[in-house]
Amino acid sequence: MLHNKKVIKHNSNDQVHASNTSVEILNKFILPKNQMNSKEAYDLIKNELSLDGNASLNLATFVQTWQEEEVHKLMDECITKNMIDKDEYPQTASIEERCVHILANLWHAESSTDTIGTSTTGSSEAAMLAGLALLWNWRKKMKAAGKPCDKPNIVTGAVQICWEKFARYWDIELREIPMKRDKYTMTPSDILNYVDENTICVMPTLGLTFTLEYENVLEISKVLDKLEKEKGLDIPIHVDGASGGFLAPFIDDQKDIIWDFRIKRVKSINASGHKFGLAPVGVGWVVWRDKASLPEELIFNVNYLGGNMPTFALNFSRPGGQIVAQYYNFIRLGFEGYQKIQNNSAQIGQWLSEKIKSIGLFEIIYNGKGGIPGCTWRFKDGIDAGFSLYDLADKLRSRGWLVPAYSLPEHATDIVVQRVLVKQNFTMDLASLLVEDIKRAIEQFKAHPITTPLTEKESSFFKH
Ligand SMILES: Cc1ncc(COP(=O)(O)O)c(C=O)c1O
Repeated sequence: MLHNKKVIKHNSNDQVHASNTSVEILNKFILPKNQMNSKEAYDLIKNELSLDGNASLNLATFVQTWQEEEVHKLMDECITKNMIDKDEYPQTASIEERCVHILANLWHAESSTDTIGTSTTGSSEAAMLAGLALLWNWRKKMKAAGKPCDKPNIVTGAVQICWEKFARYWDIELREIPMKRDKYTMTPSDILNYVDENTICVMPTLGLTFTLEYENVLEISKVLDKLEKEKGLDIPIHVDGASGGFLAPFIDDQKDIIWDFRIKRVKSINASGHKFGLAPVGVGWVVWRDKASLPEELIFNVNYLGGNMPTFALNFSRPGGQIVAQYYNFIRLGFEGYQKIQNNSAQIGQWLSEKIKSIGLFEIIYNGKGGIPGCTWRFKDGIDAGFSLYDLADKLRSRGWLVPAYSLPEHATDIVVQRVLVKQNFTMDLASLLVEDIKRAIEQFKAHPITTPLTEKESSFFKH
């Protein structure tokens, strides 16, 4: 769509704002007829993207929002590499394998040579793969016993949506133990009301998406041990360690939590490299405790890339850069570096929770201890502050902070919470500025009362 009918002849030496594109509104849904200068195209897109939120103030996401310069360089150097071309890029393949073994070792696999795992695009793909392996193993067991295997179920606490997807895509009943009003993680003894011989696994989460708390894998395992002893039901565990897989091994007051392959019942673990693995967005991991836990039928061999390569991820082509960047973090930071970063983040989350509590309006649901670095709060019972947490989120957004407010899942849907995730670039100094802005926002609400507080439905600008 050209507003200015008189087309000025374009000169490729023009400064971008002297070009035709400066006085055009792009038709966004049709492929343009002609090409344009690369600088102009870049400028158009860069300008549009400035309307996005500022990633470094995004306290909603679990995904890293800062990377070292060397990671940017490695990502650039790998931009043309497809990680699936393992014969062509054997070093990228080797680096992926090393990462799997580093994680297996970190998560206390009995034998680092007998473990097996893969990189994925994130925890969602990793969850699908782990879930499929459990489904296949369960089916085999049922067939061998001459029993029907058409009604599998999976027992979980309040899960991230990837498990809902897993259950729906593969027609598995999701038995999600509902949250209680005063306890948001699954109560181990409750499991007995949900499991049966059709349960492919119990799936605790190390770091609930909603509150950031860890579920107690060891206690869950003990309940299942007792069940096996009394009723002969042997139900495996998969741990969704999307965040916690990269936190519990490092945070001082979490090192004693036993949640990983030290527990025999834990057959597989997933984690997001791009969350607290500190890699750039686009990498996750799934590791099985031993090769026997991953059914052979799920491993495909391809020969058309050269060599005979086994593959057991959902995607075929994928970028290699994120895997390389994960490995960079492993060798660059070592145990010591991860320990320092994760402990700093945990400390900031705990500090923030104290400050938010001291405002007086809020009850702290998660105080940053024993789970993911960050904190979660709600209004105290009986408080009518005259604004909703959605209003507070909206006000903070005008300063650039992205601090989500949302209602909890089933059985606690009337509880609205607000949550901050502390990642490596959210320093104590930034946290103190956030606290000042929260206080300033509350003062403004007092001086200029909200007549109609925002609801959850209205709280997203895009849903208006
Ligand atoms: C507990 C949990 N599991 C799975 C996922 C999905 O992870 P990803 O975004 O890496 O696919 C998330 C994402 O936040 C999560 O918090």
